[in-house]
Parts: sequence; structure tokens; C-alpha cells
Amino acid sequence: MTILAIETSCDETSVAIVRNGREVLSNVVMSQVDYHKEFFGVLPELASRKHLEFIDISIRKAFEEAGLTIKDIDRVAVTFGPGLVSSLLIGVNTAKTISYFFDKPLLKVDHVEAHLFSPMLENDVPFPFIGLVVSGGHTNLFVVNDFFDIKLVGHTVDDAVGEAFDKVSKILGLTYPGGPVIDKLSKEGDEKRFLFPLGAIEKDYDKYNFSYSGLKTSVLYTVKKLGSLSKQDIKDICASFQKSAIDVLYLKVKKLVEETGIKNVAISGGVSANSYLRKKLLSDNEIRTFIPSPKYCTDNAAMVGLVAYFKPVEANLSDDVYPRIAGIVKGKRKV
Ligand code: KG4
Ligand code: ZN
Repeated sequence: MTILAIETSCDETSVAIVRNGREVLSNVVMSQVDYHKEFFGVLPELASRKHLEFIDISIRKAFEEAGLTIKDIDRVAVTFGPGLVSSLLIGVNTAKTISYFFDKPLLKVDHVEAHLFSPMLENDVPFPFIGLVVSGGHTNLFVVNDFFDIKLVGHTVDDAVGEAFDKVSKILGLTYPGGPVIDKLSKEGDEKRFLFPLGAIEKDYDKYNFSYSGLKTSVLYTVKKLGSLSKQDIKDICASFQKSAIDVLYLKVKKLVEETGIKNVAISGGVSANSYLRKKLLSDNEIRTFIPSPKYCTDNAAMVGLVAYFKPVEANLSDDVYPRIAGIVKGKRKV
């Protein structure tokens, strides 16, 4: 089965053609990051305007790269949420139009589920596994028994971890997105110089939840206290912040591994590109970690094509987009 997959939930316009779930024939990603840089975050109205501009080009390119035409497509899949409503609408309306005009069944995909299963594009990830989805919009911990049995066991109660990287980068006068630059500068910094709080809540009922707003505020106060920052100060703050932000992800994954006995861990989303997180997980001999290559860590439509194949959810032309984690993983919340 050949699926045309579309992803426009945030600021990447992406179109992929995926055969039988894992054979990626094309995966076009048109990033808008240069347009949003000056705002230090994604500006929703600008994002939707750019999606509108990029969507046709991306579809044409995806067909060209795959060497196929619409006649070769069996189904059209698209992200319905969670994400920015005005961005989601561009992808969903495009997919609905193609589905209606060319008479192809329409499938709906949840963006967080797409990230969650994205390590399967390149690896044979055995069920059950522990899934950690960490991006600019999400910090979620799951127990995944199969495609249809997914339990959300932990989530952030305020900022997402990637958002914390972006905000700290802004506080330090660095660039957007913050993750890659903080990751890089941390390598030359002293992670023990500043003692920032862990990005977590320690109460028992919240044992798998995360909280990043206190950590971000702590960095802000430290910067204010120091007054002017030397280059070394910035590197030390980056390393100390990164340690607090990432250690908690590792600690909670470890706790869940111990509690469930599940040793397979799949991480995904933009923050899974973090070198310190990768090192910590990959050097732990008690767990088996699966991480997508960088092109599948950030938003892409190939992961949408994968989920649509293994977990087909039919959509109607009247189905609406949804902004928050609610759609398909709804009702599985433990906390
Ligand atoms: O998955 P993604 O591309 O988009 C969302 O769905 O949010 O993730 C983007 C996020 C940004 O917050 C960015 O700062 C973060 O991922 N990120 C990183 C790294 N590379 C990207 N965070 C930490 N370390 C990195 N190396
Ligand atoms: Zn994402």
C-alpha cells in the first residue's frame, strides 16, 4: 500500500510518500525556521501563511522524488492534531481536497503518535517499549504495548523541554531554536558550576511528570545576578541547564524501566537529537535505546505515513483538527 502523507502541525511543511509503512520513497521537509527566528518561537499566523505557500511545492517534489503520480497512491494521510490550528488546517484541507477529488480514502494521524512510532522507520523496535516524545511542544512518557494500546504515564505540567531550551537560549542572547546551540556550547562548559533545579515534580502522584518553568526561572535569576556574562559564563550556564533539563528525562525513563521491567526505550522529537541525552541512554547497558536519525527526529511526514499504515484511522471530510493532546491518545491518561 502506498500512502501520501502530509504534516503541517507546526512550522515544517512536510509531504512524504511511504510504501507499506516503512519504505520511504520521498520525504520532503520545507522548514520555516529562518522566518520565525526573529520572534524566538513560532508565530502562528506566519506559519500558516508559509504552509499555504509551501504545500503545493512540497507535494510536487514528493511525487517527483518518488517517481510516482497520484494514480499510484492508495490512501491520503494527514496530521489532525495536536498542533497550531491555523497550521493544521492547511495540511488537513489539502488532504481532504486530494481525497475528495481523486477518490482516495482519507486517514487521520495524531502528531504525538507519529513521533512516538518514528523510531520504527529505521529500526525493528519490539513491543512493548517505553516511548519518550520530547520536542518544542511535547514532553510525554508512554508505555506502548502495541499500536492500539498506548498509555500516557507522564507529561509536562507547564513548558515542554524543547521550549525550555528555546527560552533559555533567548535569556542568554543566543539563537532560535535553542536546543542545537545550547547542546554545542555545553560541550565547553562546566555542568557543575550552577546548581539548577531538575525539570521535575518530585511528589509521588506526579512521579512521571515534568515541570520546566522553575528551571527556566532559575536560569533567569542567575543571569540577572551575574549582570554581564562572559563567554565562559554562557557556556557554564548552558552545560548546567542542559544537565538539569536532560537528567530528569533519563531518571524518569530509568524509574519506569525498573517499575515495568520493559527494557526497550524509543525516544523521538526534536530534543532526541540532544547529544547529552543520547550519550546517557546509549551508554546504559540495562536498556536498549532506539533513536531516529536526525531527519526523523524533527517534524516530518514519513512518520505520518508509517502510523497511517500500521494504525489506519479513517477520517471524514467533516472531521475537525484538534490543538491539544486529546485526539487519538485521549482517555489513556493516568494522571
Ligand atoms: O520536533 P520538533 O522539530 O518540533 C516540535 O514539534 O516542537 O522540535 C523542536 C525542538 C526545539 O525546541 C529545539 O530547540 C529542540 O527541539 N532541539 C533540541 C536539539 N535540537 C533541537 N533540544 C536539545 N538539544 C538539541 N540538540
Ligand atoms: Zn513535532
